[in-house]
Amino acid sequence: MNAINDNTSDRVSDKVLASAIVGQDVGPLALYEDRVSEGLLRPDPDQERVARRLDRLWTELKTYHPPAVPPPEPARKKGFLSSVVSRIPGLLHREQEDAPPPRGVYIVGRVGRGKTMLMDLFFSCAPLKKKQRIHFLSFMQEVHQRLRQLKIDNPGMSDPIPPLARTIAQDATLLCFDEFQINDIADAMILGRLFEALFREHVIIVATSNTVPGDLFQNRPGADAFKPFIAIIHRNLDTETLDSETDYRRGREQDDTTWIVPADETARHRLDKVVARYGEGHKPEKVTLEFSGRSLPVDHAQGPVARFDFTSLCSRPLGPGDFLAVAKRFPVIVIDDIPSLGPDDANVARRFITLIDALYDNGNLLFVSADATPDQLFPEGEGADAFARTASRLVEMSSESWLARAHAPGGCLSRP
Ligand SMILES: Nc1ncnc2c1ncn2[C@@H]1O[C@H](COP(=O)(O)OP(=O)(O)OP(=O)(O)O)[C@@H](O)[C@H]1O
Ligand SMILES: [Mg+2]
Repeated sequence: MNAINDNTSDRVSDKVLASAIVGQDVGPLALYEDRVSEGLLRPDPDQERVARRLDRLWTELKTYHPPAVPPPEPARKKGFLSSVVSRIPGLLHREQEDAPPPRGVYIVGRVGRGKTMLMDLFFSCAPLKKKQRIHFLSFMQEVHQRLRQLKIDNPGMSDPIPPLARTIAQDATLLCFDEFQINDIADAMILGRLFEALFREHVIIVATSNTVPGDLFQNRPGADAFKPFIAIIHRNLDTETLDSETDYRRGREQDDTTWIVPADETARHRLDKVVARYGEGHKPEKVTLEFSGRSLPVDHAQGPVARFDFTSLCSRPLGPGDFLAVAKRFPVIVIDDIPSLGPDDANVARRFITLIDALYDNGNLLFVSADATPDQLFPEGEGADAFARTASRLVEMSSESWLARAHAPGGCLSRP
């Protein structure tokens, strides 16, 4: 195998992005090829193909002039003329006046293949002023919060989705979603209509996912109602599969203090030391996190560290909002006693997947004691496939390069 040393792979994510040239005429393919020739990335024909597709979109965007997005309906004062004109069919329908925007790209493939790396490369040089790159979990949190607010501010409003789509479109012509996934029926119901409205507002979407569009939210109650959404994705986005041989997260030097097996007394003492080291100078305390109208008690906080029993995090009905709040507030997370999970633990495993997605995306440090290694933690049961992504991430989060990045400038420990 083409071994890549830790040092090199560590430089990949930071330097790949740091050196992306915003505002200059350099597209994602050239940026990708540069990184390969500099030795920051290993050559990979699959990645090159996807970089080529993103490069086409980049070229199309250079000459694309999105129409101005009018203010959302509730905020717009209707004069006599506009109220008359708006009744004439087709006259104010922007989709009939404007050329269609370029098609977006849905990058799908197994874990660690470089989907996020390529999307971030594309995003860094995308020639648009209004662009946003967001983890899909965070996006959905924001959507729920803004829908709630719209309903509070406009009690008579029958459908808050079109005005929400318009507000989103005002801020971003290009939306890049990392880790597109649909885990719950509430999201599934909103998304179809929201995306339809976003495309009507000429928003272009690029996404990464481990699931092909046709399999999103399938084999779940309510899956049929979700089918039109899948059709909307196919209509507006090209699916590009990125499935090279290598999981680039594997094969790095591992740090043996981060994932301790088994979860016994010795492990507990070793984790005590982790808390003492990172929490030095702070006293242990109970903290309550307040966010989006919710509050979450954290019983063991010490400066940048929060320590949890696995059951207190993943056997309770906590969701993405809770995990994102924990990830943002505490750079260092310590979890005691992660058990081996079996087919009866699908819900617990799903929460753990969401927790790790939030911690990984935020660059947190994670120290745990567990009954099994990440690869052996949840071998079978509903969602065991999705757990492969989590295992790949946990391996990367246990690497020396991950720890080094957390301590480096811009890493989670140096953020205000
Ligand atoms: N060609 C490459 N050479 C070396 N390192 C690479 C290469 N491609 C990606 N990497 C590195 O491998 C790691 C995983 O890549 P990335 O996060 O983009 O995977 P992914 O496909 O998004 O995985 P997931 O499905 O789990 O989200 C990152 O640290 C990335 O910088
Ligand atoms: Mg990814």
